[in-house]
Amino acid sequence: MSVTHTLFTVGPVEVRKEVLESMTKPMITHRSKEYEKLQEGIVEKLHKTLDTDLNILMSPASASGLLEGCVRSGVSSRMLGLSNGSFGDRWQGIGTENGKDVRKVKVAWGKAIKPADVVPHLDDGIEAVTMVANESSTAVLNPVGEIAKAVREKHDPFIFIDAVTAAYGTDLKLRELEPDALVFGTQKALALPPGLAIMCCSDRLLKKAESVPNRGYYFDLVQMKKMADKNYSLTTPPVSLLYGLDFQLDRCLREGMANRYARHRQMAEMVRNWAKKNLGLYAEPGYMSDTITVIQRGSVDFSKLQKGLKERGYEISNGYGDIKETTFRIGHMGDLTVEEVRGLLKNIDEVLEGQK
Ligand SMILES: Cc1ncc(COP(=O)(O)O)c(C=O)c1O
Repeated sequence: MSVTHTLFTVGPVEVRKEVLESMTKPMITHRSKEYEKLQEGIVEKLHKTLDTDLNILMSPASASGLLEGCVRSGVSSRMLGLSNGSFGDRWQGIGTENGKDVRKVKVAWGKAIKPADVVPHLDDGIEAVTMVANESSTAVLNPVGEIAKAVREKHDPFIFIDAVTAAYGTDLKLRELEPDALVFGTQKALALPPGLAIMCCSDRLLKKAESVPNRGYYFDLVQMKKMADKNYSLTTPPVSLLYGLDFQLDRCLREGMANRYARHRQMAEMVRNWAKKNLGLYAEPGYMSDTITVIQRGSVDFSKLQKGLKERGYEISNGYGDIKETTFRIGHMGDLTVEEVRGLLKNIDEVLEGQK
């Protein structure tokens, strides 16, 4: 089957032909000098593009693998999980499923989590606070920098950030944020196929992990770090995807990260303006995501809209979780351009007009 439509989805997202082609180089083995060089170069470029010196760990998994890794390696017993949507709930669930005592902060869907929602729930027994930067079910961008700062004013838990749909689309200012863990995958704003989870993590998290029991094997941060120090992967890495990552990071450097973030902002503003005029937005003003927009469905028949768009070469995303039936989502991240977003919106107008 040949798929020719452009993905304005929330992930996996559109992957450019030249990026796909960069992944077709001959295979190398992962305990070779060539591989060491490849991984070393990638780590250097991740540091440059994200503007951080934190440790970089990579795992052949989707991002959830390393979200689990944070909890298993960083929390002996108690954590605080913040949620205002499906993915915040998911990280709380990962904690519970791994036998941790998870204290929960639940904020209404569509609203951003504010420091005042979090601070009263802290005490010195809380080892980590988990939070989602860009909540993909609601398109709320949580003020993680402000939350982390407020948390650290009186207590010192690890700050764990799910940056799955934020990294590479939004400047998270890692030098100010200083997360203990920041996790994302390749299939979102990095605009690569799925299959690799990436984490930036602090020395103090790795130090504590040494004394945390039952870390498991596959996502044990201590073992991963030992291998990362030799520019190796703990288990067999997806070498083809690493070729793509190396190629894509060069493209990010050529574009310039400030330009990349500005392009995401421009695409988001264009979609938000369209949504405001036509159907309505879901997220709290002032906290809207630059990578995803959640739009009120009103009387629109989403399956008919999607069908019409696919016939014209476009694909968008359904609503998610509790608001699956009342909203739909447009992803505007990765390598998409403002012009392409303009084209999508014009086609949505035409499809909706034709269905009146
Ligand atoms: C905010 C957020 N967190 C976590 C995940 C789970 O990531 P993965 O499917 O790569 O494990 C997603 C996936 O869409 C997400 O959007």
